Amino acid sequence: MKCPFTMTVLAFLWVGCGGASAKITPDQAKALPPPAARKIDFAKEIKPIFEASCIKCHGRGRTKGDLSIESRDTLLKGGESGPAIVPGKSAESHLIELVAGLDPDSVMPQKGKRLTTEEIGVLRAWIDQGAPWDPGISFAKPPPVNLSPRQPRLPAARRGTANPIDRLLQPYYEARGVKPAKPVSDRVFARRVYLDAIGLLPAPGELEEFLAGTRPDKRDGLVKRLLADNRRYAEHWLTFWNDALRNDYHGTGYIDGGREQITGWLYSALATNMPFDEFARELIDPVPASAGFSKGIVWRGVVNASQTPQMQAAQNISQVFMGVNLKCASCHDSFINDWTLADSYGLAGIYSDQPIEMVHCDKPTGQFAISKFTYP
Ligand code: HEC
Ligand code: HEC
Repeated sequence: MKCPFTMTVLAFLWVGCGGASAKITPDQAKALPPPAARKIDFAKEIKPIFEASCIKCHGRGRTKGDLSIESRDTLLKGGESGPAIVPGKSAESHLIELVAGLDPDSVMPQKGKRLTTEEIGVLRAWIDQGAPWDPGISFAKPPPVNLSPRQPRLPAARRGTANPIDRLLQPYYEARGVKPAKPVSDRVFARRVYLDAIGLLPAPGELEEFLAGTRPDKRDGLVKRLLADNRRYAEHWLTFWNDALRNDYHGTGYIDGGREQITGWLYSALATNMPFDEFARELIDPVPASAGFSKGIVWRGVVNASQTPQMQAAQNISQVFMGVNLKCASCHDSFINDWTLADSYGLAGIYSDQPIEMVHCDKPTGQFAISKFTYP
Protein backbone atom coordinates (compact mmCIF):
# COMPACT_ATOMS: atom_id res chain seq x y z
CA MET A 1 0.00 0.00 0.00
CA LYS A 2 1.15 3.49 -0.79
CA CYS A 3 2.14 5.35 2.26
CA PRO A 4 0.34 8.72 2.55
CA PHE A 5 3.60 10.37 3.56
CA THR A 6 2.61 13.92 2.72
CA MET A 7 -0.65 13.57 4.51
CA THR A 8 1.08 12.33 7.65
CA VAL A 9 3.37 15.34 7.61
CA LEU A 10 0.44 17.64 7.01
CA ALA A 11 -1.49 16.08 9.83
CA PHE A 12 1.45 16.71 12.13
CA LEU A 13 1.70 20.30 10.97
CA TRP A 14 -2.01 20.79 11.43
CA VAL A 15 -1.94 19.59 15.02
CA GLY A 16 1.39 21.25 15.73
CA CYS A 17 0.44 24.69 14.44
CA GLY A 18 -3.14 24.49 15.57
CA GLY A 19 -2.09 24.69 19.17
CA ALA A 20 -4.75 26.03 21.43
CA SER A 21 -7.34 26.87 18.83
CA ALA A 22 -7.53 24.02 16.37
CA LYS A 23 -8.79 21.23 18.50
CA ILE A 24 -12.37 22.16 19.38
CA THR A 25 -14.86 21.27 16.65
CA PRO A 26 -18.02 23.41 16.24
CA ASP A 27 -20.08 20.57 17.75
CA GLN A 28 -17.80 20.37 20.76
CA ALA A 29 -17.95 24.15 21.17
CA LYS A 30 -21.74 23.90 21.37
CA ALA A 31 -21.44 21.26 24.09
CA LEU A 32 -19.34 23.53 26.33
CA PRO A 33 -21.05 25.04 29.37
CA PRO A 34 -22.22 28.55 28.35
CA PRO A 35 -20.25 31.58 29.52
CA ALA A 36 -21.69 33.42 32.53
CA ALA A 37 -23.72 36.44 31.42
CA ARG A 38 -22.14 39.08 33.64
CA LYS A 39 -18.98 41.04 34.17
CA ILE A 40 -16.37 38.86 35.92
CA ASP A 41 -14.17 40.13 38.75
CA PHE A 42 -10.76 38.43 38.53
CA ALA A 43 -9.84 38.80 42.20
CA LYS A 44 -13.21 37.61 43.50
CA GLU A 45 -14.11 34.91 40.99
CA ILE A 46 -11.10 33.66 38.99
CA LYS A 47 -8.36 33.81 41.61
CA PRO A 48 -10.22 31.45 44.00
CA ILE A 49 -10.72 28.88 41.19
CA PHE A 50 -7.04 28.96 40.21
CA GLU A 51 -5.96 28.81 43.84
CA ALA A 52 -8.21 25.90 44.77
CA SER A 53 -7.75 23.80 41.64
CA CYS A 54 -4.69 24.73 39.58
CA ILE A 55 -1.89 26.46 41.50
CA LYS A 56 -0.77 23.26 43.22
CA CYS A 57 0.60 22.10 39.83
CA HIS A 58 0.87 25.32 37.79
CA GLY A 59 1.93 27.99 40.32
CA ARG A 60 4.41 28.80 43.11
CA GLY A 61 7.26 27.63 40.91
CA ARG A 62 5.53 24.46 39.67
CA THR A 63 5.09 24.07 35.92
CA LYS A 64 3.33 20.79 35.10
CA GLY A 65 2.98 20.38 31.34
CA ASP A 66 5.42 23.30 31.10
CA LEU A 67 2.56 25.63 32.04
CA SER A 68 2.79 28.26 34.75
CA ILE A 69 -0.35 30.17 35.75
CA GLU A 70 1.62 32.56 37.95
CA SER A 71 0.77 35.61 35.82
CA ARG A 72 -1.31 36.58 32.79
CA ASP A 73 1.85 36.56 30.67
CA THR A 74 2.81 33.00 31.57
CA LEU A 75 -0.79 31.84 31.05
CA LEU A 76 -0.82 33.42 27.57
CA LYS A 77 2.56 31.92 26.77
CA GLY A 78 1.08 28.55 27.66
CA GLY A 79 2.79 25.19 27.88
CA GLU A 80 3.88 22.24 25.78
CA SER A 81 0.94 22.67 23.40
CA GLY A 82 0.94 26.44 23.03
CA PRO A 83 -1.07 29.30 24.55
CA ALA A 84 -3.48 28.16 27.27
CA ILE A 85 -6.08 30.81 26.41
CA VAL A 86 -7.07 33.04 23.48
CA PRO A 87 -8.37 36.28 25.04
CA GLY A 88 -11.81 37.08 23.66
CA LYS A 89 -12.37 33.52 22.43
CA SER A 90 -13.11 31.07 25.23
CA ALA A 91 -14.45 28.43 22.85
CA GLU A 92 -11.02 28.31 21.20
CA SER A 93 -9.05 28.22 24.44
CA HIS A 94 -7.16 25.05 25.29
CA LEU A 95 -7.72 25.68 29.01
CA ILE A 96 -11.51 25.56 28.57
CA GLU A 97 -11.25 22.40 26.49
CA LEU A 98 -9.33 20.77 29.33
CA VAL A 99 -11.48 21.91 32.27
CA ALA A 100 -14.64 20.97 30.34
CA GLY A 101 -13.20 17.49 29.87
CA LEU A 102 -13.87 17.28 26.11
CA ASP A 103 -11.19 14.59 25.94
CA PRO A 104 -11.84 12.26 28.88
CA ASP A 105 -8.15 11.25 28.86
CA SER A 106 -6.93 14.76 29.50
CA VAL A 107 -8.95 16.72 32.02
CA MET A 108 -7.86 19.57 34.29
CA PRO A 109 -7.46 19.62 37.23
CA GLN A 110 -5.55 16.43 36.63
CA LYS A 111 -6.31 15.27 40.17
CA GLY A 112 -9.06 16.24 42.58
CA LYS A 113 -12.55 17.66 42.06
CA ARG A 114 -13.64 18.62 38.52
CA LEU A 115 -14.71 22.22 38.00
CA THR A 116 -18.48 22.78 38.10
CA THR A 117 -20.49 23.97 35.10
CA GLU A 118 -20.78 27.37 36.82
CA GLU A 119 -17.03 27.64 37.35
CA ILE A 120 -16.36 26.79 33.70
CA GLY A 121 -18.97 29.41 32.71
CA VAL A 122 -17.18 32.00 34.85
CA LEU A 123 -13.79 31.12 33.30
CA ARG A 124 -15.31 31.36 29.79
CA ALA A 125 -16.87 34.74 30.48
CA TRP A 126 -13.58 36.01 31.90
CA ILE A 127 -11.66 34.90 28.78
CA ASP A 128 -14.38 36.33 26.49
CA GLN A 129 -14.05 39.65 28.34
CA GLY A 130 -10.35 39.73 27.42
CA ALA A 131 -9.00 37.88 30.50
CA PRO A 132 -8.18 40.99 32.55
CA TRP A 133 -5.79 40.27 35.42
CA ASP A 134 -5.49 42.58 38.43
CA PRO A 135 -1.96 43.92 38.68
CA GLY A 136 -0.48 42.90 42.02
CA ILE A 137 -2.02 39.41 41.93
CA SER A 138 0.56 36.74 41.34
CA PHE A 139 0.83 33.03 42.00
CA ALA A 140 4.62 33.10 41.71
CA LYS A 141 6.82 31.44 44.29
CA PRO A 142 7.58 34.13 46.88
CA PRO A 143 11.29 34.90 47.22
CA PRO A 144 12.81 33.36 50.36
CA VAL A 145 12.75 35.61 53.40
CA ASN A 146 16.29 36.65 54.15
CA LEU A 147 16.90 35.56 57.71
CA SER A 148 20.67 35.39 57.46
CA PRO A 149 22.51 36.83 60.41
CA ARG A 150 23.68 40.33 59.65
CA GLN A 151 25.18 43.32 61.41
CA PRO A 152 22.49 45.96 61.87
CA ARG A 153 23.52 49.60 61.61
CA LEU A 154 23.13 51.30 64.96
CA PRO A 155 21.14 54.58 64.73
CA ALA A 156 22.90 57.60 66.22
CA ALA A 157 22.57 58.04 69.99
CA ARG A 158 20.19 60.75 71.11
CA ARG A 159 19.30 62.31 74.40
CA GLY A 160 18.01 59.52 76.66
CA THR A 161 18.84 56.77 74.18
CA ALA A 162 22.41 55.75 74.86
CA ASN A 163 21.72 52.03 75.18
CA PRO A 164 22.04 50.26 71.79
CA ILE A 165 18.67 48.51 72.27
CA ASP A 166 16.94 51.84 72.83
CA ARG A 167 18.76 53.26 69.82
CA LEU A 168 17.45 50.42 67.64
CA LEU A 169 13.90 50.87 68.92
CA GLN A 170 13.84 54.66 68.69
CA PRO A 171 13.07 54.94 64.92
CA TYR A 172 10.25 52.38 65.30
CA TYR A 173 8.72 54.37 68.15
CA GLU A 174 9.01 57.61 66.20
CA ALA A 175 7.45 56.17 63.06
CA ARG A 176 4.44 54.92 65.01
CA GLY A 177 4.09 57.67 67.58
CA VAL A 178 4.80 55.31 70.49
CA LYS A 179 5.91 56.90 73.74
CA PRO A 180 8.54 54.63 75.32
CA ALA A 181 7.89 53.60 78.92
CA LYS A 182 9.96 55.24 81.64
CA PRO A 183 12.80 53.24 83.19
CA VAL A 184 11.56 50.98 86.04
CA SER A 185 12.21 51.66 89.73
CA ASP A 186 15.32 50.28 91.47
CA ARG A 187 13.20 47.71 93.27
CA VAL A 188 11.68 46.31 90.04
CA PHE A 189 15.05 46.49 88.29
CA ALA A 190 16.69 44.44 91.04
CA ARG A 191 13.98 41.79 90.92
CA ARG A 192 14.34 41.45 87.13
CA VAL A 193 18.11 41.17 87.00
CA TYR A 194 18.19 38.67 89.86
CA LEU A 195 15.67 36.47 88.07
CA ASP A 196 17.46 36.81 84.72
CA ALA A 197 20.98 36.22 85.97
CA ILE A 198 20.61 33.71 88.81
CA GLY A 199 16.94 32.70 88.75
CA LEU A 200 16.26 33.79 92.35
CA LEU A 201 14.69 36.83 93.97
CA PRO A 202 17.04 39.07 95.94
CA ALA A 203 17.29 38.26 99.64
CA PRO A 204 15.84 41.15 101.76
CA GLY A 205 19.30 42.26 102.94
CA GLU A 206 20.73 42.28 99.40
CA LEU A 207 17.75 44.28 98.14
CA GLU A 208 17.97 46.88 100.95
CA GLU A 209 21.67 47.33 100.34
CA PHE A 210 21.05 47.95 96.62
CA LEU A 211 18.17 50.39 97.26
CA ALA A 212 20.26 52.35 99.77
CA GLY A 213 23.15 52.72 97.30
CA THR A 214 23.74 56.21 95.91
CA ARG A 215 26.26 55.64 93.10
CA PRO A 216 24.85 56.67 89.67
CA ASP A 217 26.20 53.43 88.12
CA LYS A 218 24.77 51.14 90.80
CA ARG A 219 22.59 49.25 88.27
CA ASP A 220 25.61 48.32 86.14
CA GLY A 221 27.35 47.31 89.35
CA LEU A 222 24.53 44.96 90.34
CA VAL A 223 24.53 43.24 86.94
CA LYS A 224 28.30 42.74 87.12
CA ARG A 225 28.12 41.44 90.68
CA LEU A 226 25.44 38.87 89.79
CA LEU A 227 27.24 37.68 86.66
CA ALA A 228 30.40 37.25 88.73
CA ASP A 229 28.53 35.02 91.19
CA ASN A 230 29.79 31.93 89.40
CA ARG A 231 28.10 29.37 91.63
CA ARG A 232 24.60 30.83 91.54
CA TYR A 233 24.96 31.75 87.84
CA ALA A 234 26.00 28.18 86.95
CA GLU A 235 23.23 26.59 89.02
CA HIS A 236 20.58 28.70 87.31
CA TRP A 237 21.81 28.31 83.71
CA LEU A 238 22.41 24.59 84.22
CA THR A 239 18.63 24.08 84.19
CA PHE A 240 18.30 26.00 80.93
CA TRP A 241 21.06 24.02 79.19
CA ASN A 242 19.86 20.72 80.67
CA ASP A 243 16.57 21.29 78.85
CA ALA A 244 18.09 22.52 75.59
CA LEU A 245 20.64 19.69 75.42
CA ARG A 246 18.31 17.12 76.99
CA ASN A 247 20.97 16.27 79.50
CA ASP A 248 20.26 13.29 81.76
CA TYR A 249 17.31 12.22 79.69
CA HIS A 250 15.59 9.04 80.76
CA GLY A 251 12.54 7.73 78.98
CA THR A 252 11.28 5.41 76.33
CA GLY A 253 13.79 6.71 73.83
CA TYR A 254 16.74 5.78 76.03
CA ILE A 255 17.67 2.76 73.97
CA ASP A 256 21.21 2.59 72.68
CA GLY A 257 23.00 3.52 75.90
CA GLY A 258 25.03 6.21 74.11
CA ARG A 259 23.66 9.09 76.13
CA GLU A 260 25.65 9.91 79.23
CA GLN A 261 25.25 12.75 81.64
CA ILE A 262 27.32 15.79 80.81
CA THR A 263 26.42 17.58 84.03
CA GLY A 264 30.02 17.83 85.26
CA TRP A 265 31.24 19.32 81.98
CA LEU A 266 28.26 21.68 81.76
CA TYR A 267 28.55 22.93 85.34
CA SER A 268 32.21 23.61 84.99
CA ALA A 269 31.76 25.33 81.60
CA LEU A 270 29.22 27.70 83.14
CA ALA A 271 31.05 28.26 86.41
CA THR A 272 34.32 29.08 84.66
CA ASN A 273 32.58 31.27 82.08
CA MET A 274 33.75 29.23 79.08
CA PRO A 275 33.38 31.46 75.98
CA PHE A 276 30.29 30.53 73.96
CA ASP A 277 32.20 29.58 70.81
CA GLU A 278 34.30 27.08 72.79
CA PHE A 279 31.18 25.86 74.56
CA ALA A 280 29.39 25.20 71.23
CA ARG A 281 32.50 23.62 69.72
CA GLU A 282 33.00 21.18 72.59
CA LEU A 283 29.39 20.05 72.28
CA ILE A 284 29.36 19.67 68.50
CA ASP A 285 32.87 18.24 68.14
CA PRO A 286 33.09 16.73 71.61
CA VAL A 287 35.78 16.13 74.20
CA PRO A 288 35.13 12.97 76.25
CA ALA A 289 33.32 14.81 79.07
CA SER A 290 30.87 16.49 76.65
CA ALA A 291 30.31 13.55 74.28
CA GLY A 292 27.05 12.53 75.98
CA PHE A 293 25.26 15.30 74.07
CA SER A 294 26.19 14.29 70.53
CA LYS A 295 26.02 10.57 71.31
CA GLY A 296 22.62 11.15 72.86
CA ILE A 297 21.36 12.52 69.56
CA VAL A 298 21.45 8.95 68.27
CA TRP A 299 18.58 8.18 70.54
CA ARG A 300 17.03 5.45 68.41
CA GLY A 301 19.57 4.82 65.69
CA VAL A 302 18.00 4.61 62.23
CA VAL A 303 14.20 4.91 62.36
CA ASN A 304 13.55 5.99 58.77
CA ALA A 305 15.20 8.16 56.13
CA SER A 306 14.50 11.39 58.00
CA GLN A 307 15.54 9.92 61.36
CA THR A 308 19.06 8.69 60.80
CA PRO A 309 21.71 9.77 63.30
CA GLN A 310 23.04 12.34 60.81
CA MET A 311 19.59 13.83 60.20
CA GLN A 312 18.84 13.90 63.92
CA ALA A 313 22.16 15.67 64.48
CA ALA A 314 21.18 18.31 61.90
CA GLN A 315 17.74 18.80 63.47
CA ASN A 316 19.08 18.91 67.02
CA ILE A 317 22.07 21.16 66.43
CA SER A 318 20.25 23.65 64.22
CA GLN A 319 17.49 23.88 66.83
CA VAL A 320 19.75 24.27 69.86
CA PHE A 321 22.40 26.58 68.46
CA MET A 322 20.61 28.50 65.71
CA GLY A 323 16.94 28.37 66.70
CA VAL A 324 16.22 26.79 63.30
CA ASN A 325 13.68 23.97 63.02
CA LEU A 326 14.79 21.65 60.20
CA LYS A 327 12.37 18.91 61.17
CA CYS A 328 9.74 19.64 58.51
CA ALA A 329 12.44 20.03 55.86
CA SER A 330 13.80 16.55 56.62
CA CYS A 331 11.20 14.82 54.44
CA HIS A 332 10.26 17.53 51.93
CA ASP A 333 10.94 21.24 51.41
CA SER A 334 9.29 22.91 54.38
CA PHE A 335 5.80 24.36 54.00
CA ILE A 336 6.15 26.64 57.03
CA ASN A 337 9.48 28.35 56.31
CA ASP A 338 12.10 28.52 53.57
CA TRP A 339 14.33 25.63 54.62
CA THR A 340 14.65 22.95 51.96
CA LEU A 341 15.37 19.24 51.94
CA ALA A 342 18.81 20.12 50.56
CA ASP A 343 19.46 22.37 53.58
CA SER A 344 18.65 19.60 56.07
CA TYR A 345 20.73 17.03 54.22
CA GLY A 346 23.47 19.62 53.75
CA LEU A 347 23.90 20.02 57.51
CA ALA A 348 23.47 16.27 58.07
CA GLY A 349 26.31 15.73 55.60
CA ILE A 350 28.69 17.40 58.02
CA TYR A 351 28.02 14.52 60.42
CA SER A 352 28.44 11.84 57.81
CA ASP A 353 31.56 9.95 56.81
CA GLN A 354 30.26 9.57 53.26
CA PRO A 355 27.96 11.43 50.86
CA ILE A 356 24.27 10.99 51.80
CA GLU A 357 21.59 10.37 49.23
CA MET A 358 18.60 12.67 49.73
CA VAL A 359 15.29 10.94 50.36
CA HIS A 360 12.04 12.77 49.63
CA CYS A 361 9.53 11.48 52.19
CA ASP A 362 10.41 7.80 51.77
CA LYS A 363 11.48 8.00 48.13
CA PRO A 364 15.22 8.04 47.32
CA THR A 365 15.91 10.89 44.89
CA GLY A 366 19.19 9.67 43.42
CA GLN A 367 20.72 13.07 44.33
CA PHE A 368 23.49 13.40 46.87
CA ALA A 369 23.52 16.20 49.41
CA ILE A 370 26.20 18.85 49.24
CA SER A 371 27.46 19.24 52.81
CA LYS A 372 27.04 22.80 54.05
CA PHE A 373 26.22 24.75 57.17
CA THR A 374 22.74 26.19 57.62
CA TYR A 375 24.17 29.68 57.31
CA PRO A 376 27.24 30.20 55.12
C1 HEC B 1 -2.40 17.51 40.02
C2 HEC B 1 -1.69 18.40 39.14
C3 HEC B 1 -2.50 19.32 38.22
C4 HEC B 1 -3.54 20.16 38.56
C5 HEC B 1 -4.19 20.35 39.91
C6 HEC B 1 -3.85 20.89 37.35
N1 HEC B 1 -3.04 20.49 36.34
FE1 HEC B 1 -3.04 21.24 34.46
N2 HEC B 1 -1.58 19.94 33.94
C7 HEC B 1 -1.02 18.99 34.77
C8 HEC B 1 -0.11 18.16 33.99
C9 HEC B 1 0.73 17.00 34.53
C10 HEC B 1 -0.15 18.65 32.68
C11 HEC B 1 0.62 18.11 31.48
C12 HEC B 1 -0.29 17.42 30.53
C13 HEC B 1 -0.78 16.09 31.04
O1 HEC B 1 0.02 15.30 31.59
O2 HEC B 1 -2.00 15.81 30.90
C14 HEC B 1 -1.08 19.75 32.68
C15 HEC B 1 -1.39 20.49 31.57
C16 HEC B 1 -2.25 21.58 31.55
C17 HEC B 1 -2.50 22.41 30.41
C18 HEC B 1 -1.89 22.22 29.04
C19 HEC B 1 -0.49 22.73 29.01
C20 HEC B 1 0.11 22.47 27.64
O3 HEC B 1 0.44 23.43 26.97
O4 HEC B 1 0.22 21.28 27.29
C21 HEC B 1 -3.39 23.37 30.78
C22 HEC B 1 -3.95 24.50 29.92
C23 HEC B 1 -3.69 23.13 32.16
N3 HEC B 1 -2.97 22.04 32.62
C24 HEC B 1 -4.58 23.89 32.90
C25 HEC B 1 -4.93 23.59 34.20
C26 HEC B 1 -5.94 24.33 34.92
C27 HEC B 1 -6.72 25.51 34.36
C28 HEC B 1 -6.04 23.74 36.13
C29 HEC B 1 -6.99 24.08 37.24
C30 HEC B 1 -8.41 24.09 36.87
C31 HEC B 1 -5.07 22.65 36.18
N4 HEC B 1 -4.43 22.60 35.00
C32 HEC B 1 -4.84 21.86 37.28
C33 HEC B 1 -1.24 18.85 36.11
C34 HEC B 1 -2.22 19.52 36.81
C1 HEC C 1 8.66 11.78 58.27
C2 HEC C 1 8.55 12.59 57.10
C3 HEC C 1 7.80 13.93 57.16
C4 HEC C 1 8.04 14.95 58.06
C5 HEC C 1 9.04 15.05 59.18
C6 HEC C 1 7.09 15.99 57.67
N1 HEC C 1 6.33 15.61 56.60
FE1 HEC C 1 4.92 16.72 55.65
N2 HEC C 1 4.58 15.22 54.34
C7 HEC C 1 5.18 13.96 54.40
C8 HEC C 1 4.55 13.09 53.42
C9 HEC C 1 4.91 11.63 53.18
C10 HEC C 1 3.54 13.86 52.78
C11 HEC C 1 2.59 13.43 51.67
C12 HEC C 1 3.16 13.70 50.33
C13 HEC C 1 2.15 13.35 49.27
O1 HEC C 1 0.94 13.26 49.55
O2 HEC C 1 2.59 13.19 48.13
C14 HEC C 1 3.60 15.20 53.38
C15 HEC C 1 2.77 16.23 53.02
C16 HEC C 1 2.72 17.45 53.65
C17 HEC C 1 1.83 18.53 53.27
C18 HEC C 1 0.82 18.53 52.12
C19 HEC C 1 1.48 18.99 50.87
C20 HEC C 1 0.51 19.10 49.67
O3 HEC C 1 0.95 19.66 48.65
O4 HEC C 1 -0.61 18.61 49.76
C21 HEC C 1 2.08 19.55 54.13
C22 HEC C 1 1.40 20.92 54.16
C23 HEC C 1 3.12 19.10 55.05
N3 HEC C 1 3.49 17.83 54.72
C24 HEC C 1 3.63 19.87 56.09
C25 HEC C 1 4.59 19.42 56.99
C26 HEC C 1 5.03 20.19 58.14
C27 HEC C 1 4.54 21.57 58.52
C28 HEC C 1 5.97 19.43 58.78
C29 HEC C 1 6.74 19.77 60.07
C30 HEC C 1 5.92 20.00 61.23
C31 HEC C 1 6.10 18.19 58.03
N4 HEC C 1 5.25 18.24 56.95
C32 HEC C 1 6.99 17.19 58.36
C33 HEC C 1 6.23 13.60 55.22
C34 HEC C 1 6.74 14.35 56.27
